Amino acid sequence: MFRNMQSSRQHSVDTAALVEQGRALIDGERDAVANAANLAALLYASRAALNWVGFYFLKGDELVLGPFQGKPACTRIALNSGVCGRAAAERRTLVVPNVCAFPGHIACDPASRSEIVVPLLDGGDVFGVLDADSPIENHFEEDDRLLFEAIARLFVAGSDFRAGR
Ligand code: SME
Repeated sequence: MFRNMQSSRQHSVDTAALVEQGRALIDGERDAVANAANLAALLYASRAALNWVGFYFLKGDELVLGPFQGKPACTRIALNSGVCGRAAAERRTLVVPNVCAFPGHIACDPASRSEIVVPLLDGGDVFGVLDADSPIENHFEEDDRLLFEAIARLFVAGSDFRAGR
């Protein structure tokens, strides 16, 4: 029996194919809520072992909950708070292998064990984050970082988000 030596995880759709699906999904639509909703749904439905995927949008000094898939989540996160607020403030992707070991982690779903947060960047400006949780510790690997960063870029390039601020 063949074994994937690079990862113990089985993804039903590979990263490149998923990015292309995301591109096709938002093609011809520039509404930020519609695109965020469909991209969150695509990731949640296609990627293995996720219990939450969604967007937060920066309004003033807070990230406010946007379209997502998963259990209900906290609606407002201050900049620098939790994994989301930290990723937004530092304008960089954070991969957290064990959320229990991340000081200030905000537990919206107690089932979450690991997390990835990608800032939504437009030039030097941050205007939100794309966040995903897994119930499996140490779940997110390099292919996930590449995937979530690519989806975040697609969303930024393909959506009129500023009009909705
Ligand atoms: N865990 C996040 C909060 C958002 S939920 O995971 C949906 C954080 O620490 O910022």
